[in-house]
Amino acid sequence: MGDGGWFETVAEAQRRARKRLPAPVYGALLAGSERGVTYRGNTEAFAELGFAPHVAGSAAERGLATTVLGEPISLPVVISPTGVQAVHPDGEVAVARAAAARGTAIGVSSFSSKPVEEVVAANPQTFFQMYWMGDKDFMLRQMERARAAGARGLIVTLDWSFSHGRDWGSPRIPESLDFKEAARLAPAVLARPRWLLDWARRRTLPDLTTPNLAAPGETAPTFFGAYGQWMQTAPPSWDDVAWMRKEWGGPFLLKGVIRVDDAKRAVDAGASAISVSNHGGNNLDGTPATIRALPAVAAAVGDQVEVLLDGGIRRGGDVVKALALGARAVLIGRAYLWGLAANGQAGVENVLDILRNGIDSTLLGLGRASVHDLTPDDVLVPPGFTRTLGAPE
Ligand SMILES: Cc1cc2nc3c(=O)[nH]c(=O)nc-3n(C[C@H](O)[C@H](O)[C@H](O)COP(=O)(O)O)c2cc1C
Repeated sequence: MGDGGWFETVAEAQRRARKRLPAPVYGALLAGSERGVTYRGNTEAFAELGFAPHVAGSAAERGLATTVLGEPISLPVVISPTGVQAVHPDGEVAVARAAAARGTAIGVSSFSSKPVEEVVAANPQTFFQMYWMGDKDFMLRQMERARAAGARGLIVTLDWSFSHGRDWGSPRIPESLDFKEAARLAPAVLARPRWLLDWARRRTLPDLTTPNLAAPGETAPTFFGAYGQWMQTAPPSWDDVAWMRKEWGGPFLLKGVIRVDDAKRAVDAGASAISVSNHGGNNLDGTPATIRALPAVAAAVGDQVEVLLDGGIRRGGDVVKALALGARAVLIGRAYLWGLAANGQAGVENVLDILRNGIDSTLLGLGRASVHDLTPDDVLVPPGFTRTLGAPE
């Protein structure tokens, strides 16, 4: 490829990911749940917002740097935790290297395909993400391991509702890749020779395990084995959230908050930050787009915790819209996964560059010298756009 695999937009990264990945792997990344209302809503809502540009008086250079959970980052975009089994042999380590090269932090999932130690070695600005799963001893061991590895913050994701069934069909993901499964998947895999070559070059196959959930000295559980254990865990109370926060001790981000009353409880539980999130629409379908819920949450708790947003970010202008409506920074999921699938570490760097350039050009158009100067006045919000959940309007 003459251009070294460079792409111009996140949409193009997605097209390339689709061409490169076997259909079940691409389907697992696209994800979404049930009707896909929330999945589509997250991106479509951004398109409803407009800008209010100036024509003169802009700054010659714009400032994009900020901090999240005390970590200085060069642009207000952080890598959201995802399990990226089978997308690329270097998985989260490639993503961590790309984030480090572009000056930002990475959230690494407890369901990730690489151990947290390897991710921290590639990018010291790593936050470890956990679910409420297993008993308290199991969770304490995970926290201890992440702390020992050098993770700088904990992300706790509590919005998962074990929704299953997608109207467009769920890919069948095997428990492990033995010979029989490989033969069954052969048609999908052989149709994607470049993906297969990536693995063949490293003389490995996707192992579909979760090394961060292994007990000390034991082999890593399979993705589905771990998922089963999680399904059997009773959901946490707010006291449990406060317990986790206390046990961790350091910067603590609660991911998945979308209601004002929950945001206030997160503050009471001692969170340092929240992410207004619906898990990228993979969850309880019918949850509103995160950008619609952000303004009410930011107004209620923005002066007490860092308010972040994730869901539907595909361009720099989306990041600017989220910041103008009250977010300190955003997290991205699919955008970097498609970059990773399209071109490995360079593809993730490419996606971060697309977002950086898009933020910069939007700031230029808006006549803002820095991401810190953005206000709701920069964005045109159509009547009836916002949604206030868990508080009187
Ligand atoms: C394939 C996939 C796997 C994910 N795995 C996790 C996970 O392990 N932990 C987590 O907190 N969120 C997970 N998420 C949610 C993302 O962190 C993030 O909230 C979401 O992708 C944001 O929406 P976007 O993809 O539109 O940017 C996952 C999302 C996708 C698409």
